[in-house]
Formats: sequence, structure tokens, C-alpha cells
Amino acid sequence: MNLTGGLHWHWRAWRAQARWVQTRSDIETWLLAQPVPTEHLLLIGASAGWMMSAPWLARFKSVQTWDIDPLAAPLFAWRHGGALKAQGVHLECHTGDALTSLPSLLREQPQATVFFDNVLGQVRFQTPRTDQAENRLRSITQVLRGRHWGSVHDRMSGPVQSAGTAHDVPGARKTEQGSKNEGQATQEWLGLLGAQSPWLDHLTDSVFPAGTPLTNIAWPMNASYWHWLQAGWVRP
Ligand SMILES: C[S@@+](CC[C@H](N)C(=O)[O-])C[C@H]1O[C@@H](n2cnc3c(N)ncnc32)[C@H](O)[C@@H]1O
Repeated sequence: MNLTGGLHWHWRAWRAQARWVQTRSDIETWLLAQPVPTEHLLLIGASAGWMMSAPWLARFKSVQTWDIDPLAAPLFAWRHGGALKAQGVHLECHTGDALTSLPSLLREQPQATVFFDNVLGQVRFQTPRTDQAENRLRSITQVLRGRHWGSVHDRMSGPVQSAGTAHDVPGARKTEQGSKNEGQATQEWLGLLGAQSPWLDHLTDSVFPAGTPLTNIAWPMNASYWHWLQAGWVRP
């Protein structure tokens, strides 16, 4: 099941571009602050790159995108292909289940940096039970051992207090995976978002190893339902 691909998603993302300005800018600022450890990028869950930073992509020599949604590859190439080509970046867009085929993708591209672009938070919708989703996420992170990899993904999502507008969206906040004050920082962050119980746990709390610097980013999916995105980068 794919809840975030398909025509409906692209239509929604296209219409939401103004509301997502802050989110896109926070993701870009975070990405541009990361070192580019290798020349090749494997971008998983790329969709049409609605929230992807073009200046960050241009730092690589080659970019391979993967998405299970058949519309994603042509739309990504249409949105980003021209600018990347002009900057000498080789782009290949693929369609397929890149989470299932991750071990073989990694074998084929031993040098590639891997970035999960807002996809790991959807794993819980692709398995019938939460323990299966947690196991799947664990096996994904295990297979990445020894790699430079990063991810931005849903940590939680749910209703917010008031119908928010773009300028109500709080800017990104830094935390650390497993830090002593994690509970308090979480409550403060949810308060900033105006979160109203109950919020959905996307089961990604253990994706990053302890000590990983994290950036928390607000994503107003629509005026009354927001996502809390968490971004982190893991070095071998
Ligand atoms: C929230 S969207 C990503 C948004 C995207 N990063 C952007 O900037 O527009 C999640 C994407 O993950 C894709 N996806 C979900 N499961 C996948 C899988 N197993 N392999 C590859 N892509 C997957 C969906 O089709 C969807 O396009």
C-alpha cells in the first residue's frame, strides 16, 4: 500500500507549495549544512522532489532516485532534470520498491550516499502489525551499517490546535537522539506545534543511533493536521 504516492499526492503537493515553504526551507538548510561524503547519491522515496533542495542535489556528480510510484520518476526528471543537467549532474530516475531491494541496491552502489527522503515514516502503513514495521525499520538500518546515510521522516503526526497558516509554522529545532532531556524537548516541541491528542506514532523513534544530532521540522500537511519530521545523518 502506498499512501503518499500517486496522482492524489502530486496534486496535493503541488497545491501545498506555499504552505510548505517553511518546511522545504528547513530541510534545505539542514541538508546544505551536511558534508557531501561521496559523489553519488541514492535518493529513496524521491517522489517528484516536491520538498527536495536543488542546490543540495547539485553537489553530487550523479543522483539515482527511487520511488514505488510510477508517476514519480517522470515528474522528478521534469522538475529537477534540466537544472541538474545544466550543472553536469547525471540523473537516473527509477521506479520500484527500493526498501525491499535495498540490500541489492547497496551492493550495486558501494560508494553511494543514501538518503531516505520522507519515506521511513510510511513503513508502518505498509505492514499489518506495528512490531513488523519496527522489525522492518530495524533491518533497514542494520543493512546500512558502514554507510553514510541520512533520512528525514515522520516521527509523529496529528491534529493541531488552530487552523495554522504558513507563518505559524515554528522553525526547526535541534535535539540529540537519546539525550537525557529528550522527553522534555519532545513535549516543548509538540507544544510549539499546537499538537492536540491523539498523535500518531510513525514508529521511527529508533531509526537513528543514540547520539545522532537531530533536527525537528514542522510540516503542515494541511491547516489542521501537521507532521513532525525528524532529520538526521549517520556516519559510518
Ligand atoms: C512523503 S512522500 C516523499 C516526498 C518526497 N520526498 C518529495 O520531496 O516530494 C513518500 C514517498 O515514498 C514513496 N515510497 C513509499 N514506499 C516506498 C518504497 N518501498 N520504495 C520506494 N518508494 C517508496 C511513495 O511512493 C512516496 O512518493
